[in-house]
Amino acid sequence: MPATTMEQLVSLCKRRGFVFQSADIYGGLQGVYDYGPLGVELKNNIKAAWWRAMVYERDDVEGLDASLLTLRKVLHYSGHEDTFSDPMQDCKRCKARFRADHVKDGKCPECGSTELTEPRPFNLMFKTHVGPVDDGSSLAYLRPETAQAIFTQFKNVVDSTARKVPFGIAQIGKSFRNEITVRNFIFRLREFEQMELEFFVKPGTDLEWLDKWRDARIKWWVDQGLDPNKIHVKDVPADELAHYSKKTYDLEYEFPIGTEELEGVADRQDYDLGNHTRYQDELALTTKVHKNTDSTAKLAVFDEEAKKWVVPFVVEPSAGVDRAFLAVMTEAYNEEKLPNGETRTVLKLKKHLAPVKVAVIPLKRNNEQIVSLAHQIKADLLKTGIGRVMLEDSGNIGKAYRRHDEIGTPLCITVDFESIEQSPATVTLRNRDTMAQERIAVADLPKYLKEFFL
Ligand code: GAP
Repeated sequence: MPATTMEQLVSLCKRRGFVFQSADIYGGLQGVYDYGPLGVELKNNIKAAWWRAMVYERDDVEGLDASLLTLRKVLHYSGHEDTFSDPMQDCKRCKARFRADHVKDGKCPECGSTELTEPRPFNLMFKTHVGPVDDGSSLAYLRPETAQAIFTQFKNVVDSTARKVPFGIAQIGKSFRNEITVRNFIFRLREFEQMELEFFVKPGTDLEWLDKWRDARIKWWVDQGLDPNKIHVKDVPADELAHYSKKTYDLEYEFPIGTEELEGVADRQDYDLGNHTRYQDELALTTKVHKNTDSTAKLAVFDEEAKKWVVPFVVEPSAGVDRAFLAVMTEAYNEEKLPNGETRTVLKLKKHLAPVKVAVIPLKRNNEQIVSLAHQIKADLLKTGIGRVMLEDSGNIGKAYRRHDEIGTPLCITVDFESIEQSPATVTLRNRDTMAQERIAVADLPKYLKEFFL
C-alpha cells in the first residue's frame, strides 16, 4: 500500500469524528484543534498506555497533575523568559510572517520574494493576567512545557514519598506555545498536550540513563504499532540544543509531511533544579544562570556516602500526545483492494488503542428480541473491563462493518435470527484485520474477549 497522505488522514479524522478544527463554524482558530467522539477515545488510550508504561509498570516513578497557569518567576528562573523564542522574519511584499529557519535561499516561503526583514526573536509564551488588576505584577504565563511544575514540586514530592534517586515524576497535560507558523494539521499546534517524565539521577550517571531512556522509548513506540524502520534517532547537534540541555536525542518518525520529531530525550543536567534553588552557593552547580533570590527551597538531596547536598541531574523523555496521535493514525491507515474490486479503508490500530473495542450490531433494528439481546450482550461485555463496547444499530450490516473498519474497531458482533432461535444462543464474531467470521456462543463471549484484549 502506498504511504499514507495527510489528505487521507485529515479527511478520515473529520468524516468519522476524530479531529475538528477549533471554532470551525467561525472559520477556525489557527493552530488549535478539538478532538471529537472517537478522537477523545484514541487520545485517552494513548495517554493510558504511556501512564501504564511510565508509572504502573515501574517502581521508580510517581505522577503529578499540575496547574497550567504558571507564576512568572518560575519561567523567569527556568530561562524561558530570556530564551524561549524562535527567530522570526516578515516578508515586506506579501506581509507573511514565518520562522527564520523556514526560509530557503533567502526567499519568502509564501511568495518567493527576497525582500525580508532581519530575523528577530519572538517569545513563544502566552501571557495572561491573574486577578482583577491587569498590570505588570499580575502577569502570568500558560505553561510552555509541563516540566517546570515537576521541578518546582520536586521537594514536595520527595518529602511526601521518601523517594531516593534514581526516580522520576511523570505528568501528562496541556502546554501552550504561540508558534509563529502553524500548519500540517495537528503536527505543530499552539495548544497541545505533552507526556513528560523528569527522571532524577546521580550526576555522572546521566549519559548512561539518557541511552537507557532512548531505548525504552523506542520500544514503547513500537508497542504502539509504529514500524521500527520508520523511527530514526537524531543526535541533536550542539547548536540546536535547547537552552537547558547538554545532549539530546530526538526520536523522529516518518510522518506524511516528512521525517520529523516525535519525542525528545534530553539531558537537562542540574539546570532546572539548580536555577529554582535559593541556596546555590552551598551547591556545586554545573549550570547556574540566575542567582535566585525569590525561591525558598533547596532542590537537592543529601548524598549519604559523600556527606553533602547534591542537585540531581535530570533525564527527560518528552513526547507530544498530538504527534503520537498523528503517528499511530499514519501507521494504522490502510486502503485494501478487495477481491470484488472494491476498496476497503481499515484502521489497523493496536487493540489497546482502538477507540471502540467491540461493536454489537443487531441485524434488524425493528426486531425487539434481536435488539434486546444486543443490549444484553453490550451490558455484559462492558463488565469485562475491556473498554468501550458500542451498540451499533444503524440497521445496515454492510455499512456498519465499513464504518467500524474505518474507525479501527477490532471486533464486530452481529446478533441475527439464529441468535434468538437457537439454544444456546450464538452470534457472529467478525475480525477487522482478517474479515474472518466465526460463530460463537453468547455465554463464551466474555472469556473470549478478555483473552483477546487484556
Ligand atoms: N520539556 C521539553 C520539551 O518541551 P520540546 O522538544 O520542545 O521539549 C517535546 O517538546 C515534545 O512536545 C516534542 O517532541 C513534540 O512531540 C511535542 N511538541 C512540542 N511543540 C509542539 C507543538 N507546537 N505542537 C505539537 N506538539 C509539540
